[in-house]
Amino acid sequence: MSKVGNPSLMTQMIARDVLELRRAVAEWRQKGHTVALVPTMGAIHAGHLSLISKAKSLCDRVIASAFVNPTQFDENEDLNAYPANEEEDVRALVSVGTNLVFCPNRKDIYPEGFSTVISISGLTSGLCGPLRPGHFDGVVTVVTKLFLQSLPDIAVFGEKDYQQLLVIRQLAKDLNIPVDIVGAPTVREEDGLAMSSRNRYLSEKERVIAPELYRILKMAAERVIVRPNDCELSCRNARAELLENGFEAVDYINICHAETLEPLTAYKPPARIFGAVRLGKARLIDNILIS
Ligand code: PAF
Repeated sequence: MSKVGNPSLMTQMIARDVLELRRAVAEWRQKGHTVALVPTMGAIHAGHLSLISKAKSLCDRVIASAFVNPTQFDENEDLNAYPANEEEDVRALVSVGTNLVFCPNRKDIYPEGFSTVISISGLTSGLCGPLRPGHFDGVVTVVTKLFLQSLPDIAVFGEKDYQQLLVIRQLAKDLNIPVDIVGAPTVREEDGLAMSSRNRYLSEKERVIAPELYRILKMAAERVIVRPNDCELSCRNARAELLENGFEAVDYINICHAETLEPLTAYKPPARIFGAVRLGKARLIDNILIS
């Protein structure tokens, strides 16, 4: 803990550019250490910390990246409002055993003239894909850079962004990037709300409504286990219940195959139910395995 309280040691825990990052990784490699990467956009919460713990259980050294990636934000989303506080984030990440926090500046990731975009089809054609044009291209492009910059053995991503997890797994497979993509379970508040940096946008009143998303997804999942042919009806009912419970809009409620993300009309495992809703300034997403 004293390490975390000391400002000069704090600075030593941060790599500001690719050179510093690669230097640290090379030293670890020389000692035979394995390396994990946990990509984040800062605004660290307990969900991120659980990803670090997972990474630590699998590798000798853990890098967390903290970079608010402009290319994955929609036009309507306010990139500048994204909540990030570097000092707090680094402190939290280091307190659970992160060995290095990679905080590149924008020019390091997107130097002048940057013209590459990596795009994944198929898995991005449903759920958040059509509703957030360009979002997954931005995610996949920045994650590819982070992989190539740090060359980790594994990278850990949360199941809360389940579509993102599958898309990144596809990326690593398609481009033969030698990194194992590890998924980690969603961490929830006591009332069931999935932890997310965007929960900070919720007002007190909205915060009371927000956990209803999880409750309603669970109910819909239970319904299709009993009536497997009722996927569409269950999703329709869930949508109506969400609106009745105070959500302003429902972007989607879908039951999909858990590996291909193909929408299902009849429930057959492995399947997950996915939801995206609007509440005040926040867009909340969640998903659960139907079992
Ligand atoms: O999940 C996130 O926080 C971001 O999409 C990621 C993976 C760090 C890429 O910017």
